[in-house]
Amino acid sequence: MKDSFGREISYLRVSVTQRCNLNCVYCGKEGCAKKEAELSARDICRLVSAFAACGIKKVRITGGEPLVRADICEIVKSIHAIAGIETIALTTNGVYLKQYAAALKEAGLQSVNISLDSTDESTYRHLTGAAVLHKVLEGIEAAQAVGLAPIKINAVLMKGVNSDGAEELIALAEKAPLDVRFIELMPFSVSGEDKELIVTGAEILRQFPFLKPLRSEPGTARYYGAEGFRGRVGFINAVSRKFCADCNRVRLLCDGKVKPCLGDDTLYDVMPYIEDEAALVEQIQSIILKKPAGHHFEEQAPAHGLNRTGG
Ligand code: 5AD
Repeated sequence: MKDSFGREISYLRVSVTQRCNLNCVYCGKEGCAKKEAELSARDICRLVSAFAACGIKKVRITGGEPLVRADICEIVKSIHAIAGIETIALTTNGVYLKQYAAALKEAGLQSVNISLDSTDESTYRHLTGAAVLHKVLEGIEAAQAVGLAPIKINAVLMKGVNSDGAEELIALAEKAPLDVRFIELMPFSVSGEDKELIVTGAEILRQFPFLKPLRSEPGTARYYGAEGFRGRVGFINAVSRKFCADCNRVRLLCDGKVKPCLGDDTLYDVMPYIEDEAALVEQIQSIILKKPAGHHFEEQAPAHGLNRTGG
């Protein structure tokens, strides 16, 4: 359906948990939340069905870290069975991906985004608090081996932290048919230091003049290729080029709250309607109509961290 600004809303991001097996610097002192008020697989399925009735065609499962949920394959399978859902994707830190890749593919998962901010072991450990880079790299290989596609690697560069690692991240797209995407650091941290840390897409691109623009499909990323590369390099300039005007997404949080805009703290609880599909659909439609025209997170940082909303 269209929202009140004429945007076709077709993409739902479902955060299935706030829990995470890493403890990354950006989540800061918010840390990794405990298991609280997590929707059951059955309720997730009921809610996504109602969203599908409102025109949602693509679902991305996020967290926290979605693979910490023991019933993640059941969740994927039940979403896969919903009429109208054409694409199911998942965003993960990749640590448990090797063990889950085949079962997720079997359950109906099509594609996977893997968050990887550094291919340097000590930088990775510094960023995440865990010495598990090798597991993530094995997870990427496993995703390729079972045929999940496309595979996208998402990286956020921060000045003086991991900004010297762009070349090695780009090399992943040279060697394998996957997309390596640089996402600008959005002002969500609790420390408020984001602005000094930001590395813009333009700054990265300037260092790699051999990257040439490709025709990009509609969406948040602009893609580049290079001679001999099997994959692509993408830029999601979430701060320097906001894409609110083309935003097609809404978010469902793991406690049943709907968040129509990433940069706006307004949440709507749909759980009171869970038993009544018609009422649920009506509620969701009215929430979509309240989606704001855009956000101003550079002026006022949202209170909800990305560990809650799943990015
Ligand atoms: N802006 C953009 N991306 C972020 N991530 C974490 N915090 C932010 C932010 N403020 C990214 C991390 C990691 C994934 C979990 O989300 O870099 O790749």
